Amino acid sequence: MFSDREVKVSDTIETILKETRVFPPPEGFSKAAWQGDSASYQKLWSSSQEDPIGFWQTAAENIHWFQKWQKVLQWDEPFSKWFVGARTNAAYNCLDRHLEKHGDKTALLFEGEDGKVDTWTYRRLHSEVCRLSNVIEKDLKLKAGDTATIYLPLMPEAIVAMLACARVGVVHSVIFAGFAAHAIRDRVLDAESKVIFTTDIGYRRGQILELKQTVDAAVTETPCVKSVVVLRRRDTTKLGPKDLDWKDLLSRQTPEHTAQPFDAEQPLFYLYTSGTTGKPKGIVHTTGGYLVGTATTAKWVFDLKPDDIYWCTADIGWITGHSYVVYGLLANAATCLIYEGNLMYPDAGRIWEIIDKHKATILYTAPTAIRSFMRAGDAVPAKYSLKSLRLLGTVGEPINPEAWMWYHTQIGKGRCPIVDTWWQTETGAILISALPGVTSLKPGSATRPFPGIKADIVDEKGNSCGPNEGGYLVIRHPWPSMLRTIHKDPNRFKETYWNKFKGLYFTGDGAHKDQDGYFWIKGRVDDVINVSGHRLGTMEIESALVSHPSVAEAAVVGRPDELKGQSIVAFVTPRDGSDLKDLQKKLKDHVVQEIGSIARPDEIKFTKTLPKTRSGKIMRRLLKDLAAGKEITGDTTTLENPGLVEFIQ
Ligand code: WT7
Repeated sequence: MFSDREVKVSDTIETILKETRVFPPPEGFSKAAWQGDSASYQKLWSSSQEDPIGFWQTAAENIHWFQKWQKVLQWDEPFSKWFVGARTNAAYNCLDRHLEKHGDKTALLFEGEDGKVDTWTYRRLHSEVCRLSNVIEKDLKLKAGDTATIYLPLMPEAIVAMLACARVGVVHSVIFAGFAAHAIRDRVLDAESKVIFTTDIGYRRGQILELKQTVDAAVTETPCVKSVVVLRRRDTTKLGPKDLDWKDLLSRQTPEHTAQPFDAEQPLFYLYTSGTTGKPKGIVHTTGGYLVGTATTAKWVFDLKPDDIYWCTADIGWITGHSYVVYGLLANAATCLIYEGNLMYPDAGRIWEIIDKHKATILYTAPTAIRSFMRAGDAVPAKYSLKSLRLLGTVGEPINPEAWMWYHTQIGKGRCPIVDTWWQTETGAILISALPGVTSLKPGSATRPFPGIKADIVDEKGNSCGPNEGGYLVIRHPWPSMLRTIHKDPNRFKETYWNKFKGLYFTGDGAHKDQDGYFWIKGRVDDVINVSGHRLGTMEIESALVSHPSVAEAAVVGRPDELKGQSIVAFVTPRDGSDLKDLQKKLKDHVVQEIGSIARPDEIKFTKTLPKTRSGKIMRRLLKDLAAGKEITGDTTTLENPGLVEFIQ
């Protein structure tokens, strides 16, 4: 079934399948954990599998509701409503309700790449959010249900903007501040954003990123945008006709604002992610269920305690930042470290230096990052104490046992459990993960589903697979933080997730379950690739390539990469008469220009023509094998031209 399946890391599938090491939770950890008693947890887990709705109803008690629900779940497959009739406010849950007890507690501990630190207490964060909420309502005149785009690097004001939108019912659409102007334009138009919140510059690897210039270029083609609110970090930045000065607007508003109750199903945000077509999908998340899902998983998976200093290295431009920097963490009144910069700048020890400096207790990062740290050598982390750490996490791609063991021994010093968390932009919250006080860990496995989550592996027909039998990862029952639809495209929502298997949510991942019910995720089985934990659609990159005048046709595939999981290889047929000199570099730059540097192809190969079936479909499997340097195997008799792919250079 997985003839296409790729080993994403240096370990081969065989070594992963043979992985037998088991790490039980450290006794001391279990004693103090929220979930630390295996027997009672097992009971809770089993009953949650029988009655997921009951489990989530109990979990919802930890959220503040202005009005309680009449019904926990209304399921009109594939459309769900959670906490029907309830009213809540996400910003109130993340801020106001903590003020009395935790007003002086640090909410955000911000470190810039230059090493400067800025501490935001819950009270300060609340005041700024209230001021911006007033600006949104009174100056920008947005109403609940309108949309605003946020294009900001990982800095406290990005979180202020998200929470202010949430507070007044404005749907936010955060765009990762590495995306190019065209990508911003497409997302802004699809969301029909009326306002963009941005800043003039960002800092990365000692360089200045001219973010406002990128927004300026995008805004020339987005008539729906009435104003751009610019946080000026450089005095000399000039404002254009649509631009408003962030600090100026905020200084004229009061820090008082009353949070209004919104329907639990009020859309909280759209987040664009890649799919199997060229057009990114606006994943729709709503308020009540999303808060319940993210707050419950954050508390249990990260075993959050009042004194924790939690550091998730993800940017707020991705779902990890939304759920496990902002909503899930602040809903638990946690202290979050955020860092605007490169984790290996100015040297490979920066991440460990930050951990020691702030005495971080929990670190949540991506396998690709771990592999880069590993490559820098054991001597680097050895220079730091790291003794504040008590829990480690990974997300975004499969972690190879070799990297897992390195993380465990060199960073966790054999003392810190590792939670390998499987989830997606669409799932909103973690669905499969160890709970560090009760789950025995196996390197490379995301272990078991969270309570209330009915995950399974099925074959092509939708029947459950047996132990160690490869199949598709599906979810059998709705969960509160699930996507509600794709913005403006309910048909695509149905087709992508619900049409493959009747009544089951299809994740797009291949996986198997072992004899102990542990899940081992292999990666995508569709045309989505995962480069350094970033999700990219091969069709998106192809569309960018064919928009170049020298390209007749293009096919993009992922190639296994030791460091990045996958790298991007493009097969391109140039138009007749094109000048091939420097064309590879020009095309790579063109993709960066169209999408952003995360989509830059690692390699471009020129072909006379792309291999197609007689019905005209590009033979991607063959191209994947070619890119990976494998022998061409399998059936090629349906090829239009069964000869070799002819390369021009
Ligand atoms: C895809 C979702 C969830 C936040 C970051 C990525 C892959 C995610 C794991 C994991 C193996 C993983 C899957 C999934 N993935 N976590 N722990 N082990 N694979 O979110 O951009 O929506 O990508 O990331 O392939 O489908 P995303």
